[in-house]
Amino acid sequence: MVSKQPLLRRIVIAFVLMTFCVSGFFSLSIVAVVHFIEENLVSQELDEELLGVLQHDLANGLPPRLDSRTQFFATDMPRYAVPDRFIKAEEGFSESVDDTDAFYVFKRSINGQGYFLVQEQHEFEERETALYHAVLAGFVLSVILAWILGLWLARRIVAPVVRLANQVRHRDQLHHLAPDIAPDYADDEVGHLAKAFDSTLGQLRNSLEREQLFTSDVSHELRTPLMVINSSCELLDVATNLDPRQLEKVERIKRATDEMSSLVQTFLLLARSTSNQSIEGGSATLAVVAQEQGARWGAMIREKGLLFEMVDEGADETRYNLTFLRTVMSNLLRNALHYTESGGVRLRLMADGFCVEDSGIGIPLEQHEKMFQPFVRGQQARGEGLGLGLSLVKRICFHEGWRVSVRSREPSGSEFRVFLRDAG
Ligand SMILES: Nc1ncnc2c1ncn2[C@@H]1O[C@H](COP(=O)(O)OP(=O)(O)OP(=O)(O)O)[C@@H](O)[C@H]1O
Ligand SMILES: [Mg+2]
Repeated sequence: MVSKQPLLRRIVIAFVLMTFCVSGFFSLSIVAVVHFIEENLVSQELDEELLGVLQHDLANGLPPRLDSRTQFFATDMPRYAVPDRFIKAEEGFSESVDDTDAFYVFKRSINGQGYFLVQEQHEFEERETALYHAVLAGFVLSVILAWILGLWLARRIVAPVVRLANQVRHRDQLHHLAPDIAPDYADDEVGHLAKAFDSTLGQLRNSLEREQLFTSDVSHELRTPLMVINSSCELLDVATNLDPRQLEKVERIKRATDEMSSLVQTFLLLARSTSNQSIEGGSATLAVVAQEQGARWGAMIREKGLLFEMVDEGADETRYNLTFLRTVMSNLLRNALHYTESGGVRLRLMADGFCVEDSGIGIPLEQHEKMFQPFVRGQQARGEGLGLGLSLVKRICFHEGWRVSVRSREPSGSEFRVFLRDAG
């Protein structure tokens, strides 16, 4: 089981627990040893003293010679009658303690008679209690000390880890050439972690850079041949006597080239991805882009026998990146064309964005999110697509701060809505 406690707290808990066990064990040992010594030493001493009284003093008719703290009692001598308190004492050593007094009692039975030595032990008991208090205080103090020491040590131990975590979290590691962080750390486990982080980050930066270079190189290199094709089409258009069928073919080549140029431009802009280049490729209002795309896709939609309409519900004069807006809109219109068999397609323009509605096959609700992932296609996907269109749309929207969402329409079809800015 992985503990969810912060590292610092875990170290402190370990410290306190260890001290609690070790110091508890020592304290208990001290108490046990004191008890053992008390019982053994005192019992031995009283035994010898009782024997002395019986064999030397009483046997010679003398009174027991005892110190002021010790008294002698016997069951068969009325002079030394046993007080009730001790009469039930066990054979050998025992203690008799009540609220006011404390006594050691030593009983020895000879020929059915009980002989007692009773020693006042109040003073000893007091010292013993003081010792127990001292042991308890020592125990509590050592646990508190362990907590303070643990906290101090844990902070020192965890400090480099916290620093590393902060560095990793707060520095913009990927976009700027941030210096390595490993040299800031000692050659220990944390240092190794920092090194591993640096090396992984290095690999990540390299592959990111390679990917960006690749995309921009490819996009860049494709621009020239595309321009050649485009200008050749224009030449063919003007300079030669082509029949209408051939002209139609040339037109299609030209349209495809335009589309490719637009895509190449999109990829190039996305690969560069810095905001100051955002306006590269020109800017245009929503209405202008909608006119252009509506004309292009509307024709094909109508050719398929569907209805196409464009409704302007208040598009304003805000200018957006032409390349990106064109790519987003044309991808959504192309999908509407591909995935609609009857009914029609509507392009609605609003103040804060636009909307492409169709009466096609629609997308099941649970797949709405998934369709925006790269290489994901629906079960009823048509044609040669790769499942990249919507993922490109989403990437562009993210890049430009736009938002795209999809809803199902009744009785069938979908509605893709693009918010070009906040409604508020
Ligand atoms: N207007 C729509 N109506 C119904 N399903 C759609 C619509 N638009 C997208 N889809 C579904 O979402 C899937 C993903 O669309 P996406 O545009 O990403 O890829 P694609 O159209 O399959 O291929 P391409 O890479 O050529 O665009 C499609 O395969 C299709 O199932
Ligand atoms: Mg598509």
